[in-house]
Amino acid sequence: MDRVNFGDKLSVAPVAVGMMNLLEWGLDAKRLSERVKEYLELGLTTYDFADIYGNGGCEVLFGEMLRLEPSLRDKVEIITKGGIVYDKLRRPYFVSESYNLSKDYLISACEASLKRLGVESVELYLIHRPCPLMEPGEMADAMETLQKEGKVNNFGLSNFLPEQIAALKAYTDIPIVTNQIKMSVKCMDFLADGTQEDALRRKMPLMAYSPACGGELYRKNLSREDFEIVKVLREIQEELGAETIDEVLYAWLYRLPVKVIPVTGTGKKERVLRAVKALEYKMSREQWYDILRIARPGHVSAKYHDI
Ligand SMILES: NC(=O)c1ccc[n+]([C@@H]2O[C@H](COP(=O)([O-])OP(=O)(O)OC[C@H]3O[C@@H](n4cnc5c(N)ncnc54)[C@H](OP(=O)(O)O)[C@@H]3O)[C@@H](O)[C@H]2O)c1
Repeated sequence: MDRVNFGDKLSVAPVAVGMMNLLEWGLDAKRLSERVKEYLELGLTTYDFADIYGNGGCEVLFGEMLRLEPSLRDKVEIITKGGIVYDKLRRPYFVSESYNLSKDYLISACEASLKRLGVESVELYLIHRPCPLMEPGEMADAMETLQKEGKVNNFGLSNFLPEQIAALKAYTDIPIVTNQIKMSVKCMDFLADGTQEDALRRKMPLMAYSPACGGELYRKNLSREDFEIVKVLREIQEELGAETIDEVLYAWLYRLPVKVIPVTGTGKKERVLRAVKALEYKMSREQWYDILRIARPGHVSAKYHDI
């Protein structure tokens, strides 16, 4: 598998393994280490976390695994995120309360992630969401401090719009190596809000979260709209010779001009592998547009002229 460059200093696998649902997969540290070893053999070296996942528990479990198998540390790229405020002492389950991108908060959130993971640094730290009260100068200070102290090797953003990235970039020369956003056949905002063009301009790959639409298209009782989308996905699945519609979902993202790294959410190895398999397909322009037209009606101008 060809790896993808995130700036000059980091390369990642073309598919990242999302760890948001790790605690639901029923793995203890030992079984997680076996799973990670299987993934590593397939070239899946990149793992995506956030401090809020499992109220910190996902990072804790991965940290336990690394303590059990310290040799795995240098074989993986750890991505984690901070900036969403949560209070696990006050809440039995996660509730997103607010965002805080102040210097002190970002530094302490990152340090808490490192502690839970039991590592000295992470390969990539993402600021999880833009905050209406964010002060780019403070964010830049936090990034510079974390980089100088050797706690973060690279920085990226998540859910940021082009103008918000530009505002931060006005205050720092530290490269922003990616923006992680929701991207799928059910979430195409990136086509209309300038995100794709911004990434192309910055020569920056995007990370696509919820690439399999969070599982929405596999429900038993599909809405009329989802039923129509699945119908088209199945037709294209057959044309591509793919085994499942999952592969079509990923191939649709890979057909974009911007480089896209999907962040899978499934706990099932065979489903993660479909994201890898889909790297082989080259979706035609017609197939790509067939999905766009059905999934985002109105995106393509439907005005016909009599000749
Ligand atoms: N930056 C952000 O703000 C942000 C937000 C959300 C998520 N993320 C990251 O993105 C990752 C992926 O997000 P996501 O979980 O929404 O991704 P996703 O891959 O679109 O959805 C995963 C869900 O879909 C189900 N699923 C996938 N393929 C299926 C199939 N063929 N049949 C039935 N169900 C299927 C999975 O169930 P099974 O496990 O049973 O397969 C799982 O519940 C997260 O782990 C996290 O790392 C980032």
